[in-house]
Amino acid sequence: MSKFLLFVLHLIVFISRSFPVFAFTSPQDMSALKAFKASIKPSSIPSWSCLASWDFSTDPCALPRRTHFTCGITCSSDSTRVTQLTLDPVGYSGQLTPLVSQLSNLTILDLSDNNFFGPIPSSVSSLFNLQTLILRFNSFSGALPDSITNLKSLEALDISHNSLSGYLPKAMNSMSSLRRLDLSYNKLTGYLPKLPPNLLELAMKSNSLSGSLSRWSFDGSTQLEVVELSENSLTGAVGSWFLALPALQQVNLANNSLTRIEISKPVNGNSDLVAIDLGFNRIEGNAPVNFSAYPLLTSLSLRYNRLRGTIPLEYGQKKNLRRLFLDGNFLIGKPPSGFFAGEASVTGSLGDNCLQECPGSSQLCTPSQKPSSICKQAYGGRGKPSF
Ligand SMILES: *[C@@H]1O[C@H](CO)[C@@H](O)[C@H](O)[C@H]1NC(C)=O
Ligand SMILES: *[C@@H]1O[C@H](CO)[C@@H](O)[C@H](O)[C@H]1NC(C)=O
Ligand SMILES: *[C@@H]1O[C@H](CO)[C@@H](O)[C@H](O)[C@H]1NC(C)=O
Repeated sequence: MSKFLLFVLHLIVFISRSFPVFAFTSPQDMSALKAFKASIKPSSIPSWSCLASWDFSTDPCALPRRTHFTCGITCSSDSTRVTQLTLDPVGYSGQLTPLVSQLSNLTILDLSDNNFFGPIPSSVSSLFNLQTLILRFNSFSGALPDSITNLKSLEALDISHNSLSGYLPKAMNSMSSLRRLDLSYNKLTGYLPKLPPNLLELAMKSNSLSGSLSRWSFDGSTQLEVVELSENSLTGAVGSWFLALPALQQVNLANNSLTRIEISKPVNGNSDLVAIDLGFNRIEGNAPVNFSAYPLLTSLSLRYNRLRGTIPLEYGQKKNLRRLFLDGNFLIGKPPSGFFAGEASVTGSLGDNCLQECPGSSQLCTPSQKPSSICKQAYGGRGKPSF
């Protein structure tokens, strides 16, 4: 290396060490960060928090960041662009500025466990590099902006535990990278739209979604493993197509107003279904015998529905069934002896039914059965009941 080049090199090192406030961060990111901080109530920024260290007399992305911008942001390796905005959960209170959309290289935006309120600005839809958007446990309100469906790189969207209302965006299925969607504990209404095609986890527990589970919504959901839609206002029948979704493992549809379930045997005996909760609905008919054909099913709840008839003997023969809740129905007859043979491996409850000879010594038989007058009434009350 020539002496001149060596000199230049030394000069560069000297300059960069002597001027640590050299402006690196792009002006658009700089102004977005300023606007972001300015929209948060100063009184909600503890002195020891990440945001308190955001002091714009220094460059946000300049290294090393020992005293200023110690946390909350991550920058690209060339220190020009902000790539992650991940706040600490200390209760920051304020609105999310629409100018956040200027952070166009952002891949992660995580504001969870704070006190952000007001709308989610529709401008977030221009964050084309965004892969993870986590706003859970805040107080965001208003609708989920339709424009959010433009986020084609988004893989994880979690806005659970907020106050979102209104309908879900119609074009959700255009979010082709989305794997995890959690909008639980909001006030969303309306029907379930057509779902993103590559979704693994769908969680919308505790909203006010209505309508029936339509085949159309789940058309193409071939990778869906988890469906958590409990505590909504879903009605109607669950068609046999639903449990035939090929990747399904865990389903929770408890606490809705479903009235019927159709369960076919899994195709070729193959199914990954491990747990299904259909409790606290209005399901009529018999306990579906075909559940016993699901090879991995270990947890089944049909509690507090309107089931009648006998408990399928096959349930008692299903070795891997560990948790079975059939309590709170109008089931009759003798429970399958398989439940009580040897050391009982099944936990759960068959109580609050119209069963005969449920051994009081078994944990499964608590609480006690319904009074016979209620059972007679349920089965028509005509003369001698048929059980
Ligand atoms: C910012 O993102 C664009 C693509 O949107 C990319 O071309 C560019 O390299 C990124 N810049 C940095 C510094 O990571
Ligand atoms: C359904 O509601 C019952 C009664 O309010 C409650 O005990 C149960 O935890 C709920 N289950 C789910 C999965 O939401
Ligand atoms: C059980 O599944 C088979 C096909 O897999 C179907 O023909 C039958 O109707 C189902 N039984 C009930 C009671 O739904």
